[in-house]
Amino acid sequence: MTRATKATLTFDNGAPPIEFPVLSGTMGPDVIDIRSLGQHGYLTYDPGFMATASCASRISYIDGDAGLLCYRGYPIEQLASQSTFMEVAYLLLYGELPNSGQKSVFEEEMRRNAMLHDQIHTVFRGFRRDAHPMAVMVGVTGALSAFYHDSTNVFDAANREQSALQLIAKIPTVAAMSYKYNMGEPFAYPQYRHHYTENFLHMMFSTPCETYQVNPILARALDRILILHADHEQNASTSTVRLAGSSGANPFACVAAGMASLWGPLHGGANEAVLKMLAEIGDVSRIPEFIKRAKDKSNPFRLMGFGHRVYKNMDPRAAVMRKTCHEVLDELDLNGDPLFQIALELERIALQDEYFISKKLYPNVDFYSGIVFRALGIPESMFTAIFALARTAGWVAQWNEMLSDSAHRIGRPRQQYIGAMPRDYVPINQR
Ligand code: ACO
Repeated sequence: MTRATKATLTFDNGAPPIEFPVLSGTMGPDVIDIRSLGQHGYLTYDPGFMATASCASRISYIDGDAGLLCYRGYPIEQLASQSTFMEVAYLLLYGELPNSGQKSVFEEEMRRNAMLHDQIHTVFRGFRRDAHPMAVMVGVTGALSAFYHDSTNVFDAANREQSALQLIAKIPTVAAMSYKYNMGEPFAYPQYRHHYTENFLHMMFSTPCETYQVNPILARALDRILILHADHEQNASTSTVRLAGSSGANPFACVAAGMASLWGPLHGGANEAVLKMLAEIGDVSRIPEFIKRAKDKSNPFRLMGFGHRVYKNMDPRAAVMRKTCHEVLDELDLNGDPLFQIALELERIALQDEYFISKKLYPNVDFYSGIVFRALGIPESMFTAIFALARTAGWVAQWNEMLSDSAHRIGRPRQQYIGAMPRDYVPINQR
């Protein structure tokens, strides 16, 4: 079938039809450009933006039916196996992979910008020690906007680049400090001698009493996890960053807003739920019982880590994560880990089951990531914090792309009003 170039909206009340251009991207569904609809006195209704392209973007692309995820055209499997998180962050921000000179300069920028203003320590001290690291991260990242506000002109490309680099460089420090604060341990400063991901492990695990020896295999596994989580089209947190940033707001404040959205259990919290479920299953012999529960319509239980709103085929990140899981457990001599054995067997059984096959329910990225984090010694409360660290690269790339676009306007969704008609105020003694 040839591609449509125009779409016509007709009405059953005799009103004249309205024509709209149909736009094609490089991949994915065509989009009907309805920008002129408001002039005709109509709006579209699309809660959850299920059928709305909120922007045109060059950064990432998902084909859920084919199980494809690309950053700037590069398939995620190739990036995860051949590149580093630093290369991927550069790619997301600048659109091309760096050559070795560009990579060195970028990594140096990251090292030089990793430290936080010393005054930020007092911000940490305002939190309860037992506060969730994500609550602390949202607060401290928002507070960083006070340190870099007057100097930031978001409508200037060089200023935007500087802010983007600072954010990618500083968020690992914020994340590790949030953990240290929670643990009651002294903060560990970033070290110039370490690469980005090693530095994060150093800030998480070294103490004044003992320097943490970074295991390169584990650092590589974490680096790969960061690559897998770096961007994912216009998801809830990315859309939040774009919407907050559309008003010209400070980028640190915008990223804090994205973190708040990511913290929700429907977005960033599923890998914790997977670990809890695997622990509850407890033994491979009990898997059939849990599969039965998941298929039972009268039971709200779902197999956590299975299914995805967009991927109706294997989540390509899940396959990489399974391999990473094997590598990490091998390295730590934990291959007999009971939760991992349960996960492997659960995946095997579910993928042969007619219910999961017919509903296109495959493991998603969260299915194995919790097991990897646990093996790396990262506590559950930090899972979403690390997701936020990785996604910061995507958030700032998307924020920068939006503000670089001459067609950019403040984000301002409309509504279908279903409330009261205009009515007169009733004084309190007459209510
Ligand atoms: N276990 C059992 N049945 C499931 C599961 C599951 N994990 N997921 C979906 N189904 C069933 C639903 O009961 C529904 O059945 P029905 O058609 O008979 O009513 C059907 O599959 C479609 O489910 P929806 O909820 O409509 O699918 P949707 O695309 O809206 O939801 C979601 C996707 C929320 C991820 C869902 O699959 C789920 O709850 N999975 C478990 C939680 C999870 O792993 N979340 C992480 C997502 S990845 C991420 O956020 C990074």
